[in-house]
Amino acid sequence: MSESKEILVTGGTGFIGSHTVVALFEQGYTPVILDNCSNSTPSIVKQISLITGKECTFYLGDMRDKAFLKSVFEKHSFEGVIHFAAFKAVAESVEKPLYYYDNNLTSLINLLGCLEEFQVNKIVFSSSCTVYGVENSLKPLNEEMPVGKPNSPYGWTKWMAEQMLIDIAGKTDLRPVFLRYFNPIGAHVSGKLGELPLGPPNNVLPYITQTAAGLRKELTIFGKDYDTPDGTCVRDYIHVMDVAKAHVKSLSYSFDSTFEVFNLGTGKGTSVLELVQLFEKVTGKPLNYQFGPRRSGDVDALFADVSKAKKFLNWNTERTIEDAILDAWKWEQYRLENEIS
Ligand code: NAD
Ligand code: UFG
Repeated sequence: MSESKEILVTGGTGFIGSHTVVALFEQGYTPVILDNCSNSTPSIVKQISLITGKECTFYLGDMRDKAFLKSVFEKHSFEGVIHFAAFKAVAESVEKPLYYYDNNLTSLINLLGCLEEFQVNKIVFSSSCTVYGVENSLKPLNEEMPVGKPNSPYGWTKWMAEQMLIDIAGKTDLRPVFLRYFNPIGAHVSGKLGELPLGPPNNVLPYITQTAAGLRKELTIFGKDYDTPDGTCVRDYIHVMDVAKAHVKSLSYSFDSTFEVFNLGTGKGTSVLELVQLFEKVTGKPLNYQFGPRRSGDVDALFADVSKAKKFLNWNTERTIEDAILDAWKWEQYRLENEIS
């Protein structure tokens, strides 16, 4: 039997990283997690084991620490890396730009140094639809569109990271795949793994589930005067396990060009108000909410053209937005009952 391939998953105790670790185990890979738990908790490693029945190697440390990062590479022989580790809150990045540029770009630069030194050529990078910029808002976004001007320092870190990887790929054997996520939501269907924000959630669905669970008084819908049918922002919400599976497919995807880009979404936009109404419908729980002012960094509508990922990665979304809401609600209740925080 061939030996299982080791994959470094940076940010692997985070929301999308932890679900990808489960998907990697399911496909016979050996994921190795590295995370500083600045926005997650080590207890997630136990939840992964509960689901997969496998023990996962976990390194607690910061990617900005070069010596630490190198020590991890010295202990393994990685086939590839999936790089999730980053700060991700759009509004926070507007308030603290240096904090975002330092963490997101220094981490990547240190990682690229290790990839070169240890001759690892495969990297799947967590990018974002924010790289398309405000000028492309309101139409389905496809990978042929030029990247635009992101609306926040967070978005610029993704834009700059892509450019850095493209430049390096042009001069070396590095073969990056950029996955531009739209809005991953949901949880593992078991309800034993999900999004675990530290403090008040920035993202909308965890805010909704925490409000329904009584942890928050009410949801504030940021803005009702956007250029959308009901005035609230439109986003393309996609189940996190569908996102996770695309990462596994990207690892074995072979291509002739120096880099590849895929959108990960469903192709369908849903407004914040529609999301709230769907939550009430599928869970039967009424939700306290009010309207508030716009949040800085937000744009009217973002939704994907996903034909490229379907065609080349042979990937399809298998779960609906209703599945994602139900799974997230299941997880919210499970984590409260089991005091996971
Ligand atoms: P997350 O915050 O849950 O996970 C990121 C993980 O990275 C966290 O566990 C955090 O502790 C870790 N981390 C951050 N900086 C680190 C550092 N310097 N060293 C080690 N670990 C560090 O976020 P997520 O939602 O799972 O997002 C994963 C990636 O996907 C991020 O790069 C994010 O920008 C990107 N992304 C997310 C979304 C989304 O809606 N969730 C959308 C587009 C892109
Ligand atoms: N929203 C609210 N109330 C809240 C939280 C969010 O109304 O309490 C609204 C936002 O204003 C926005 C929508 O819900 O209109 C979605 O907001 P999220 O914070 O859940 O998601 P974003 O679209 O702002 O950002 C997410 C990730 C980014 C990523 C981006 C890509 O957090 O990392 O998707 O679109 F880049």
